[in-house]
Amino acid sequence: MSIQTSKIKLSAVEKHFTSARGERQVAVSPLDLEIQSGEFVCLVGPSGCGKTTLINLMAGFEQPSAGSVTIDGRPVSGPDPDHIMIFQDYGLYPWRTVLGNVLFGLQAKGIPAGEARDRALATLELVGLRHAIDKHPHELSGGMKQRVAIARALAVEPSVLFMDEPFAALDAFTRYHLQDELLRLWQETRPTVVFVTHDLDEAIALGQRIVLMAPNPGRIQRVLEVSLPHPRERTRDDFAFFRRELFTEFHLVHQMALQEAEYSI
Ligand SMILES: Nc1ncnc2c1ncn2[C@@H]1O[C@H](COP(=O)(O)OP(=O)(O)O)[C@@H](O)[C@H]1O
Ligand SMILES: [Mg+2]
Repeated sequence: MSIQTSKIKLSAVEKHFTSARGERQVAVSPLDLEIQSGEFVCLVGPSGCGKTTLINLMAGFEQPSAGSVTIDGRPVSGPDPDHIMIFQDYGLYPWRTVLGNVLFGLQAKGIPAGEARDRALATLELVGLRHAIDKHPHELSGGMKQRVAIARALAVEPSVLFMDEPFAALDAFTRYHLQDELLRLWQETRPTVVFVTHDLDEAIALGQRIVLMAPNPGRIQRVLEVSLPHPRERTRDDFAFFRRELFTEFHLVHQMALQEAEYSI
């Protein structure tokens, strides 16, 4: 029998910000969450409910105001090259070629030039960009840029991939395509993935678990387990079942957010 160990553990995590006017803003209220090694977890919720704050706490870009965030049992004290973040705006270096962008992380890790090049080329092959290695980011479509960002992240074989609305700026077809591609890569290399989205269908297509958050203060409303094998067929009844579950819950969250907004106007 294998004992599952949690990869990421949040215990009573809180995050407050102080606004320019000196008002205290509770972005995340005491919150507990455990993510298993190799798991694919989606964080969903309306704008402002603390998704980015939460993923930044896990990735080490923010420190909690209270509580603890650990990965592999160690407190997260800052960004770690083994835990890579992929952003919506790709974060590519415009002056580097596609290959140069993917090589960057490998060189930063001190991997010898020949091996780095082999690994970069192999990863670019995986994301279907072997033909575009000499192009610069401005010559690429949004979908291709995000593929480069994914290749750059995966090339260093991270144990955790954090993704904050990575496909939000892409058109629907490119988004479906990259969702399928990401799933294939995740199944091949099996990192732990924490994926933020406000697209409920995207969360159901991808996540083994969906953490639905509610705003004011940012908290977990419900955790939904999606017990469907990947790849998931969006037109099937079982997909529709999870869709109904999540949308029903989401409407509750949305109603609460609207009521709170009315009170605060
Ligand atoms: N650096 C910051 N300074 C002040 N307030 C912040 C900061 N970052 C986030 N917040 C506030 O925390 C709340 C959660 O924000 P965020 O995590 O960005 O939400 P989401 O990603 O779900 O849209 C919001 O009310 C936002 O205004
Ligand atoms: Mg956000």
